[in-house]
Amino acid sequence: FNIMGLLCLGFILLLVISNKTQLIIQRDKQVTLKCNHDDGSYYYMYWYRQRGQGELSLVAISLGKDTEETVAPFTVTKHIMKRPEIKESSLEIKNLTEEDSGIYFCASSIAQYLNLANYPAYFGNGTKLTVLAANVTLPKVKILPPSPKEICSQDKINDKRSTLVCVASGFYPDHVSVSWKVNGVARQDSVSTDTSAQQDKTTLMYHISSRIKVNDTDWMDLKSSFACTVQFFNGDEYVNVTNTINGQKGL
Ligand SMILES: *[C@@H]1O[C@H](CO)[C@@H](O)[C@H](O)[C@H]1NC(C)=O
Ligand SMILES: *[C@@H]1O[C@H](CO)[C@@H](O)[C@H](O)[C@H]1NC(C)=O
Ligand SMILES: *[C@@H]1O[C@H](CO)[C@@H](O)[C@H](O)[C@H]1NC(C)=O
Ligand SMILES: *[C@@H]1O[C@H](CO)[C@@H](O)[C@H](O)[C@H]1NC(C)=O
Ligand SMILES: *[C@@H]1O[C@H](CO)[C@@H](O)[C@H](O)[C@H]1NC(C)=O
Ligand SMILES: *[C@@H]1O[C@H](CO)[C@@H](O)[C@H](O)[C@H]1NC(C)=O
Repeated sequence: FNIMGLLCLGFILLLVISNKTQLIIQRDKQVTLKCNHDDGSYYYMYWYRQRGQGELSLVAISLGKDTEETVAPFTVTKHIMKRPEIKESSLEIKNLTEEDSGIYFCASSIAQYLNLANYPAYFGNGTKLTVLAANVTLPKVKILPPSPKEICSQDKINDKRSTLVCVASGFYPDHVSVSWKVNGVARQDSVSTDTSAQQDKTTLMYHISSRIKVNDTDWMDLKSSFACTVQFFNGDEYVNVTNTINGQKGL
């Protein structure tokens, strides 16, 4: 799928997937994802699932109003697509298990039989679904100060920067984002956060870390504060867990 296509066509196809972007559901329940778009010439609609960092798997396709097909290995007893209108579709997933967790995307394109080469499919933002395999558990957040080794090794006068590491651990599921504030002001540059949380296969709990580089003028100032906030979605609401440390003088 190709964002350039969107720009070239000169209009915006607005795809909206169920307006909740995150869903956390108990096993054995069912869920219905909804999608709509705003261009009646987009006859094809698709539902895809992505698990982990993996590829998209096509779950179901519709070639027009009231025409739907679930694509193997997905089965229509479990994954039911509906297309009541050209601009609307839904995907119902029954008897949820942990295996159904993933990000679900809706997409739409002009009918391929028109044979207009490479008409792009436009993708909605996706909904992240987790079917619970353990109890919802808030993260613990701590900030590790720069190692003395790092501070000592900085002999170049222009590179006086230290790294703080924020570690969030013991949480489930992995609907989190990490952000930093320095002296109360949000900081995005010089921040690097793991692309995804890692899971402990035994406890099923996740952990994620984020690093920020701060200059030593700030770090050596006792009045400086460095706050790491982990925003956690618990199924109903977003909860912030924050830890803060102050600057430290010398070693
Ligand atoms: C999709 O995500 C982008 C960026 O987060 C946001 O600006 C946009 O409003 C979202 N679109 C819909 C339809 O939710
Ligand atoms: C989600 O969409 C439905 C129908 O499109 C609408 O009734 C509802 O108010 C929306 N909810 C939010 C939180 O935007
Ligand atoms: C799905 O769950 C329903 C009850 O909620 C049950 O009657 C049905 O047999 C289940 N189907 C499968 C395929 O497990
Ligand atoms: C979830 O929490 C309940 C009550 O706190 C406990 O009885 C149960 O064993 C927990 N389940 C898991 C999978 O940890
Ligand atoms: C260190 O950061 C502060 C603001 O956070 C800035 O005013 C100062 O110029 C920086 N010093 C260096 C050497 O980059
Ligand atoms: C949680 O933290 C984020 C990022 O710092 C912030 O945008 C949001 O407003 C906070 N939410 C609450 C409820 O404090």
